[in-house]
Amino acid sequence: MRPKVFRQISGLRGKVILPGDKSIAHRAIILSSISRGKVQIDNFPANVDCLVTLAAFKKLGVKSVLKKNNLIIFGRGLNGLKKPKGPIFLSESGTSFRLLLGVLAGQNFSTMLTAGPSLSVRPMRRVTEPLRKMGAQISSYLVDTIAHSEEYPPVEICGHAINGIDYKIPLASAQIKSAVLLAGLFAKGKTTVTELVRTRDHTERMLRSFKVKVGVRGKKISVRGGQILKSPGKIFIPGDISSAAFFMVAAAIVPDSEILIENVSLNPLRIGVLKALKRMGVDIKLTIHIAQGEPVGDITVKSSKLTGIKIESREIPSLIDELPILMVAASFASGKSVFEGVGELRVKETDRIRSMTENLLSMGASIEVSKENGEENIVINGVKVLRAAKVKSFGDHRTAMSMLIAGLVASGPVKVDDLACIRKSFPDFVKVLSKLKHG
Ligand code: S3P
Repeated sequence: MRPKVFRQISGLRGKVILPGDKSIAHRAIILSSISRGKVQIDNFPANVDCLVTLAAFKKLGVKSVLKKNNLIIFGRGLNGLKKPKGPIFLSESGTSFRLLLGVLAGQNFSTMLTAGPSLSVRPMRRVTEPLRKMGAQISSYLVDTIAHSEEYPPVEICGHAINGIDYKIPLASAQIKSAVLLAGLFAKGKTTVTELVRTRDHTERMLRSFKVKVGVRGKKISVRGGQILKSPGKIFIPGDISSAAFFMVAAAIVPDSEILIENVSLNPLRIGVLKALKRMGVDIKLTIHIAQGEPVGDITVKSSKLTGIKIESREIPSLIDELPILMVAASFASGKSVFEGVGELRVKETDRIRSMTENLLSMGASIEVSKENGEENIVINGVKVLRAAKVKSFGDHRTAMSMLIAGLVASGPVKVDDLACIRKSFPDFVKVLSKLKHG
């Protein structure tokens, strides 16, 4: 794709309807596939990552029909998955890879999972370790030097009669929690995970809508193996707050803007970006209702004067994917912003500390990255005006979208080298943004 330039000095107006939430969609495919009966999934986001999960379950014998944004899955029951013919390729989808490992740990066949170039250098030990403790046999690409020991794709996982565990998750990650809970569905006895900090609870909520009993006490979540998943009939996937974040920041920084973003998932453990933007002084109004176990709302955002804020480590899991666009917001705010404990950004689709810092610095932003007591922090001093630059997506969808938003109000054109990566989460992003610019 050719470099793209977007500029809008004032007036973003109109309504945004977003594709369904990516995290919820992965879980909808997984749980529907291992449930009894037919499930209709509405507002399914047909982005590359979710299609990768869908294709994986096809390989495992699950029949499905996708028409535009409506997906029907014919569940095969808890023990109905079939050994795939050959490896399953999960492209660049970390959520597909890690959650699937949880499901495969409980199967009585072995499966090889492979990945594309960027996922092939993302860490997997965080998931293989607890699954091995449950009894799964796993071999992976092991890098073991004095300085570094980690496991990477490809991973071969051989399902066995696995046992429940009581596992304290060493880092805040919904993917680890979900992988272990999914394995727990196939395990003998009870599986309990204890979180360091509570993370998005889509898995727990959706398990309940499939009539699975899930125990939640504070940061401890338990599930008993062998429970039958019953189809809820229909699942509606609300809009993705991680995608909404780009439009919220766009409306906040482009003068004379007012936009309405409809039907956004407002899972209480995912709304850190809303809270952070409100603290920065952004004029945000919400109307909330509950739809199928997940809170959903309409968000109105108006252009605002932004002020720098501090985001503490304990907040990071609630806005982990929104940090790149929050770095853009902080660059336009007056005063200093500090984002603490952001080290996990190093192991996303790209090293997002590097991608965002390099890009924003090239536009004249003021950013420093420091390490203190083993934690990485980002300090941004708002500069209000960012200049023209040629920037890079680094193959990362959220870096690319963040830089397009930064470019809207830069003092000259900002060229993003490649936008194809945006298909990972939001194929129509440019179209939706362009409509706001002209409407
Ligand atoms: C996700 C959890 C987060 C997030 C990712 C999606 C999920 O990852 O960054 O985009 O759907 O569970 P971690 O669990 O690695 O923090």
